[in-house]
Amino acid sequence: MSTTVPIISKLPDVKTTIFTTVGNLARTYNAIDLSQGFPNFEPDPKLISLASKAMLEGHNQYAPMQGYHGLREAISKKILKQHNHLYDVEKEITVTTGATQAIFTAITAFIRPGDEVIVIKPAYDCYEPAITVNGGIIVPLQLSKNGYMIDWDVFKQKITQRTKMVIINTPHNPSGRIFTKKDMLTLQKILKPTNIILLSDEVYEHIVFDGQQHESASRFDDLVQRSIVCASFGKTFHVTGWKIGYCAAPAKLMQEFRKTHQFAVFCVDHPKQRALSTYLNSEENYLAINDFYEQKRNYFLKGLSGTNFKFKPAEGTYFQLLDYSDITDENDEDFAKRLITEHGVACIPISSFNKNHRDDKMLRFCFAKKKETLSKALEILSKF
Ligand SMILES: Cc1ncc(COP(=O)(O)O)c(C=O)c1O
Repeated sequence: MSTTVPIISKLPDVKTTIFTTVGNLARTYNAIDLSQGFPNFEPDPKLISLASKAMLEGHNQYAPMQGYHGLREAISKKILKQHNHLYDVEKEITVTTGATQAIFTAITAFIRPGDEVIVIKPAYDCYEPAITVNGGIIVPLQLSKNGYMIDWDVFKQKITQRTKMVIINTPHNPSGRIFTKKDMLTLQKILKPTNIILLSDEVYEHIVFDGQQHESASRFDDLVQRSIVCASFGKTFHVTGWKIGYCAAPAKLMQEFRKTHQFAVFCVDHPKQRALSTYLNSEENYLAINDFYEQKRNYFLKGLSGTNFKFKPAEGTYFQLLDYSDITDENDEDFAKRLITEHGVACIPISSFNKNHRDDKMLRFCFAKKKETLSKALEILSKF
């Protein structure tokens, strides 16, 4: 039955995403799927048994609104150790339903109609609909495929009286680039004389390669005072299906954040929070992740050497971009589809992350996969 209620969509531009299109095509053609950003291997059995233990011990009712105290304590300790900033356990940390909810809630809590939000493109897909649905104005800053570096002078020109928020993502999906200390210091200097809020998406904080440091916004004295830092246990511990993350922010920002959080979700999966609180207290559980994924990145790139794909090794995340401009002139969506239908390997075309769907002839491959999956994909890709 079709509705007689007239609908004027708040998100008229949101259509079936490229992730769904590629995922469906990959299934139809039984392709090796390096498109979707999640592991195809199991998490640590210790973590699973901690979750089932928490359920058997009866932690099956609502958790506190801001998150289980033990988990917030473990998060605060971890950030202090890693980034030397102490977030108050009671007032400055909230456990969320993945980073996606933290991001949506942060945008909803602060963005009013007409507020401008600077978004660095290519960008992960959840930022812009959240801005639009709240009446905000997206101010895109498109990076060049040649290194995906930010030109901070251009960035500065994007700031106006109406800029309310800047969204950054480091390590960056899809480019695999990380912000350097110099980037963060420059950003800090630019934002210092303003009242702009920084939304820092750091879901790949523990996937950083070649001995580099993750430069969290929480490491910088002035930035931290204006930042909402979002993180994801799903990404860090190979449990994307658990949808648990957190955000950390100074008390005044967090108080406002929680007003929205309380009525959007109230609280997050209790037994999983108990499990994560214990698991997080052993730092080797997250410190080992860098090496684990670095080996996968290296294996993937070794298999591509000698092909006509061009690449700069990812500095972080579990994504590798490949430039196929020496292989074909096809646009990235067509080539990505043909890779599935004719060759049996799936990836994501980067135009979907770019301003105005700009085609840079770049494809994103997720290497958070079992070695045998990567090996099968490489057998195909090495022919190019
Ligand atoms: C950059 C970025 N931010 C946020 C998310 C969402 O994280 P979560 O699954 O914890 O909601 C993702 C997931 O792919 C991501 O790549």
